[in-house]
Amino acid sequence: MPARKAAAPSQPTLPSPLPPTLQPALPKPAEVDGSVRPRGSVISVLDLSTADVASILAQATRLENEDPLARMKRLLKRRVALLFYESSTRTRTSFELAAKSLGADTALISSQSSSIEKGESLKDTGITLKALGAECIILRHLSSGAPYLLEASTGLPILNGGDGMHEHPSQALLDLRTMLAHLRDGTAEVDETTLQGVTVTICGDILHSRVARSNALLLPRLGAQVILCGPTALLPEIAAQIGPGVTIERDFEKALAASQVVMMLRIQAERLSGLHVDLEEYKSRYQANSARMDKFAANALLMHPGPIIRGLELTSEVADGPRSLIAEQVRHGVAIRMALVARALDRFEDKDHATKPTEKPATTDQLAHPKTPAKKARRG
Ligand code: CP
Repeated sequence: MPARKAAAPSQPTLPSPLPPTLQPALPKPAEVDGSVRPRGSVISVLDLSTADVASILAQATRLENEDPLARMKRLLKRRVALLFYESSTRTRTSFELAAKSLGADTALISSQSSSIEKGESLKDTGITLKALGAECIILRHLSSGAPYLLEASTGLPILNGGDGMHEHPSQALLDLRTMLAHLRDGTAEVDETTLQGVTVTICGDILHSRVARSNALLLPRLGAQVILCGPTALLPEIAAQIGPGVTIERDFEKALAASQVVMMLRIQAERLSGLHVDLEEYKSRYQANSARMDKFAANALLMHPGPIIRGLELTSEVADGPRSLIAEQVRHGVAIRMALVARALDRFEDKDHATKPTEKPATTDQLAHPKTPAKKARRG
């Protein structure tokens, strides 16, 4: 596989100290040392302009509507690695299905059954995957900022499948697609005003949530107001400084009354590290239950990135109820991740070729990408 144009700086290091989720975004390598980042990497929602977001949404719809056999020709035999240092059901499966739906060969490497167990570093694992022909790596890692190190070490486009307490950009994009499907008839014509008049409450363990961070950075750029809600232990005051359009409300019922969308988060027991949270008190103040939802947010959409803990942040009745979009979010994940993988591997139509969601699927002729001869586009 020919080397990519992007320069891999020597001695990449994780930005240090690793920040809590609510401090300003981690610096990107390009801003640190002037190197060129690989095209198609998405480590933070800040990597994407509003036009990029619109293109990804349009491409997701185009790919979802496409004939499956035609779609498989897009990335036929291209190589995508999924490198997962942390457990995952939704992100891992949907990225894998997305890449396979485009015809790519996928390889899954998890920390439990690879040489990572023997002490191999992230850098060396990445170099090994590149030597095996990987053209893009989807990474989930426990450490905030790890995808930047992998990107700098390999020069490959990296799709962040969740890094520590930092970001989960594909989750925010699929959350956005879910909201648009219900609030804006699924339009992909997003701009800075698309979500004007929409208030989204994100409630729960904000401190440890990469999902909250990515959504709080993305949704206000499209005009939404984001309310963060939770106890001080899980939502420090500094959270309001994450960006414009974000405020804190400690009273869940007040937040519900103002919201069109309610996004509940799991208490991340694995990241609490010494923080004490009284779960009974937490439930009494912050649980999404039927009585509370009916009284204060009868028409609001109920979302959750999963995994859910029934009986804690929400009741089964609410999780399985008519306002719940939890399963639908998962479904949108496959389309969004197809678009991200296609973009990472340079098989992404430019704006002139983007198809609106209401348009018919592309023909086989259109899929031949006449502007991009297959031989030239392949890097492997
Ligand atoms: N939402 C999410 O990231 O779920 P998984 O941990 O199952 O991937």
